[in-house]
Amino acid sequence: MTAQLNARGDVAVLVPAAGAGLRLGPGGPKALRLLAGEPLLVHAIRRVAAAPSVRAIVVAAPAAEVSAVRELLAPVAPVTVVAGGAERQESVSLALAAVPAGVGIVLVHDAARALTPPELIESVAAAVRAGHPAVIPVLPVVDTIKEVRPGRAELEVVLGTVDRAVLRSVQTPQGFRYDVLVAAHAAAADPLTDDAGLVEKAGLPVACVPGSELAMKITRPMDLILAEALLHVS
Ligand code: C5P
Repeated sequence: MTAQLNARGDVAVLVPAAGAGLRLGPGGPKALRLLAGEPLLVHAIRRVAAAPSVRAIVVAAPAAEVSAVRELLAPVAPVTVVAGGAERQESVSLALAAVPAGVGIVLVHDAARALTPPELIESVAAAVRAGHPAVIPVLPVVDTIKEVRPGRAELEVVLGTVDRAVLRSVQTPQGFRYDVLVAAHAAAADPLTDDAGLVEKAGLPVACVPGSELAMKITRPMDLILAEALLHVS
């Protein structure tokens, strides 16, 4: 059943999925890898559409795949699909340009975080609504982290141990006041992999909210096995 979005919601969610690897069909890229028979992108969009504040969803797809992605997502939720750009940052900018008027909060979300619960989407949006210009979901780092001099793995030399108490791993969705993300993208010089990084560069504070184990990035084969098991609780 196609989800309905909230016409009075104040949130748009952008999903950059225009990486060169994106091809529909088997052996394709991350966003379209199958989890319980459906592409990760479909799982992700279904959860985004279930978040009550979401008024619009914009997916950036490779130019050649726009209609195919549109068809794939049509039964899931009302989604605008635009052609992405050469870099992830450009794809986000192009998706941002398709955000409808009246949206005050923009979230940027990874399709690979396919099991992200609607509650996390709401909590990031709520923190932006409460006055934070930029908000990221984070989890504590559980491993001990070493700084090394990069080289062949078996020959790397440890330079020091980083205090993990001050480290966080960052998930998505990353949330922004609409005008803050527009300005950060307009001012961006070098492409970054992370939108909050652009806001940091602009000198604005970025606030953290607690992330969710379910918002893990599904990248390695073992993640898919874990995600299959988690589907029953998410
Ligand atoms: O290639 P990388 O892992 O950095 O891509 C991160 C995300 O950004 C992926 O979801 C990819 O589809 C997206 N991307 C994009 N436009 C590009 C390059 C990457 O939307 N030109």
